[in-house]
Amino acid sequence: MSGPSGLSPMTGGFPGDRAAGVWGASDTGRRNLPFFEDPAHSELILAHADTGFLPLKYAYAGSAAFTHAALASTEGYHSVVGTAELEVGVLMEAARGAAPTQVAEIGPGTGEHTLAFLTLLQEAAAAERARGTAEFPLPPDDARQAGFRYLGLDFSSTLLTMARGCLATGLAVDGVPFGPFDVRTALWDVEQARTDRVGAWRRDSGPVLMCLLGHTLGNLGDPVGALRHLAASARPGDLLLVGLTLYPRDASPDAILAPYLNDVFTAAVLEPLRAADFGAEDVLFEVRRRGRAVVGDVTFARRVDKSGHTYRPGQRVQCFFSTRFLPNEGLEIVRQAGWTVQSYAIDQPAEHLAIVARL
Ligand SMILES: C[S@@+](CC[C@H](N)C(=O)[O-])C[C@H]1O[C@@H](n2cnc3c(N)ncnc32)[C@H](O)[C@@H]1O
Repeated sequence: MSGPSGLSPMTGGFPGDRAAGVWGASDTGRRNLPFFEDPAHSELILAHADTGFLPLKYAYAGSAAFTHAALASTEGYHSVVGTAELEVGVLMEAARGAAPTQVAEIGPGTGEHTLAFLTLLQEAAAAERARGTAEFPLPPDDARQAGFRYLGLDFSSTLLTMARGCLATGLAVDGVPFGPFDVRTALWDVEQARTDRVGAWRRDSGPVLMCLLGHTLGNLGDPVGALRHLAASARPGDLLLVGLTLYPRDASPDAILAPYLNDVFTAAVLEPLRAADFGAEDVLFEVRRRGRAVVGDVTFARRVDKSGHTYRPGQRVQCFFSTRFLPNEGLEIVRQAGWTVQSYAIDQPAEHLAIVARL
């Protein structure tokens, strides 16, 4: 429940066990034993907590990938990430007759959104070929020769493994199973710097479509900086597809809190702290609205000493930040990062914006 000022009640500790219903039996061990996928994350998380700001990327890595997967199966999460229909629709409008065959995606998460997106993209490309409107028509029975390739890039190696598994289960193009589709993954922190991985993976000819879907951009501290890193990793002529969540036009301002006022979300955000061995009694968690953003803060309930770091009662750490854009803001962020907007679309309830831009 949200109070008049947009405050949610403070909740103590880690609700992971209360959210246990979302876990399958085989995940029980993982849920009970939080883990880092990179031992360096332990000290990095403590150092970030010292500064009062813990980047959200840690809430996707190691055991946090599993709490994220639980969150990604909720209706609230789906209401935030938007649909592949909107994204593919605007992409095909901008790249008419030239559906991209090289897709590099930053932040595929569990891979479910990616699977829906690639499925629709392949269907749209196949329809173009069947109509004879494709710029480079292919024999209809030879999707493999199109050289469709996908590169998933993420901070979380655990999520990349999940995404690969998800893609391996599902995609079929004109009856051709997903197998021939070339799927690669690589680690990349899009907030840190550019990457060479896209250049090393791409073919010499043809544009790459770079995707940042599911409002991933809205959860980053510096969205323009991240898009600049994408631009610096791409070539002139490459395409960018961004999916963003909009600030609701008609609903009450606090409506943006709704997807976050539940134990599954709290467990997902707090999992890095649980992995860093903080106890349920050490922290209180609060979600509130700040302007057009949702902010999640941890407050230490008592003094905690850990590996040379000291946290005092009342000390706060911001663990979550997700802003809701106005349409023009979304377009401006893309332009500021050096991309030229080609096309954009807003869905019917005006909740999501998909933007296609070219470098
Ligand atoms: C909100 S999830 C979105 C997942 C998916 N695109 C969807 O629509 O459901 C954010 C994704 O971005 C990744 N991510 C977050 N911060 C990142 C960073 N700094 N560098 C690379 N990937 C990051 C996460 O690991 C996760 O896969």
